[in-house]
Amino acid sequence: MRIDIITVLPELLKSPFEHSILKRAIDKGLAEVNFINLRDYSNDNYKSVDDYQFGGGAGMVMMIEPIAKCINDLKSKTNYDEVIYMTPDGELLDQKTSNHLSTKKNIIILCGHYKGIDERVREHFITKEISIGDYVLSGGELAAAVLADSLLRLIPGVLSDETSALFDSFQDDLLSPAVYTRPAEFNGWKVPEILLSGNQKKIDEWRYENSVERTKIRRPDLYNKNFNPK
Ligand code: ADE
Repeated sequence: MRIDIITVLPELLKSPFEHSILKRAIDKGLAEVNFINLRDYSNDNYKSVDDYQFGGGAGMVMMIEPIAKCINDLKSKTNYDEVIYMTPDGELLDQKTSNHLSTKKNIIILCGHYKGIDERVREHFITKEISIGDYVLSGGELAAAVLADSLLRLIPGVLSDETSALFDSFQDDLLSPAVYTRPAEFNGWKVPEILLSGNQKKIDEWRYENSVERTKIRRPDLYNKNFNPK
């Protein structure tokens, strides 16, 4: 999978891809992540990419010209499955969307800034708009990193235990069960006996029940979707 991220702050974005699982995905050649500096497509000597909004009002708007030039340049070299814009008024990211997008070959992610981007970019270039939650970040970069992380870890071969992504919270609309490691007792606080029993069938049953119970308490919306569908 190739992800091309268009941003005015490439340096801010690089770090998450230089460590741990995402680094391994890139080093193994399973993923390619490129950071494209939107200012390189600016029309003026000041490398500006934003301007005042028509109709007045506070906040600058990212201009269509540099963005169009940038996306057209990328498209002239690569076929993209999606051109995604990170924005708080986009569709809320969930595991289903991540699963779906992780099967794509090439995607562009555009990070917004300031007051947003000229609406014509959204109408004519963007194929999907994604929000990572109902709150406003100061730019789309951190949201783009969240989206890219959620996609790249799903690519077969990226996680060392191939099956582990399948058991993540949300994969089946259930939260993950509680996990424990050594010591088996700390301060008198004990690990559930069953996990030490070696009986895999019983352990699997316990984990499933724990998942269901946690989901019921922490995310009744997911629980009802699973167990009380309307
Ligand atoms: N840009 C600013 N806030 C955002 C959010 N919540 N999700 C995606 N992109 C954003």
